[in-house]
Amino acid sequence: MSRVLVTRRLPDGGLDPLVEAGHELIERDKDTPLSHDELVATAPTVDAIVCLLTDRIDAEVLEAGAGRLRVVANVAVGYDNIDVASATEHGIAVCNTPGVLDETTADLAFLLILAASRLASDAEADLRDGRWEGWGINQYLGRDVHGAVLGVVGFGRIGQAVARRATGFGMEVLHHARHDTGFPGYIVDLDDLLSLADIVSLHVPLSPETRHLISRAELERMKPSAVLVNTARGPVVDEVALAEALETGAIFAAGLDVFEAEPKVHPRLLAAPRTVLLPHIGSASLATRTRMARIASEGARAVLSGETPANVVGA
Ligand code: DGY
Repeated sequence: MSRVLVTRRLPDGGLDPLVEAGHELIERDKDTPLSHDELVATAPTVDAIVCLLTDRIDAEVLEAGAGRLRVVANVAVGYDNIDVASATEHGIAVCNTPGVLDETTADLAFLLILAASRLASDAEADLRDGRWEGWGINQYLGRDVHGAVLGVVGFGRIGQAVARRATGFGMEVLHHARHDTGFPGYIVDLDDLLSLADIVSLHVPLSPETRHLISRAELERMKPSAVLVNTARGPVVDEVALAEALETGAIFAAGLDVFEAEPKVHPRLLAAPRTVLLPHIGSASLATRTRMARIASEGARAVLSGETPANVVGA
């Protein structure tokens, strides 16, 4: 029997693979993140950690756990919160949750595409605050989604799932990725994609190469009528540059589910016009979040049993 730290409360049934294998779970009553000091102190006392993207599992935590800790299973597909190189150095496996959240996240990206293009947040805020004085032909004039050119940046599973939805809306879909995907609509140069797209949707993982991938220069390449949607990771976009682009009308609108310093949202984005903001809910359906917890738990269980799970990203 191994000891497994579960850093946050997970959906019911999410820990079943570990429970059924008879492991001892160290669960928490409060659904708040552990402090970094608590993670460092607990790491040497457990064989596995099941964590969330809000937990910074850095070299200090992994070094503290080295010797006993065998696996860190992140209940997320993105794992930029974990120092994978350090984990590998200490022989600690890292697992994530690929495949199970693609469609749910693509649904949310499409929600933002529609809501931002049609100015849904501004219109709803006026209605709720009593500012709507009746139908007007010049009110809330958004941009059509049907027939628009969608530029998908990053053409992995989630980017492709968004592209499938776009086809149903009669959109033309272009995409950019680091390597030629071999799919129709591939654009080699990001700048070209940005200048051609009416709506740009970001689906790249966060890495040193993608940090501030969309900054002032990239926003300037976009059409003044363009809409930017980010459901990937906040730091992929330079938020100050984006706020400025929205304030000056350099781009038309934005839909954001992720932020540079979550849970803080830059005050200029909170005040920016034509902006739809959501609190990182891309994968937030009960079924998907439960599946994510289960696949992470199954990854941890497998490593603890000496198996190599399919969802291992470092070993
Ligand atoms: C992930 O899995 O990386 C998401 O951001 C969580 O929804």
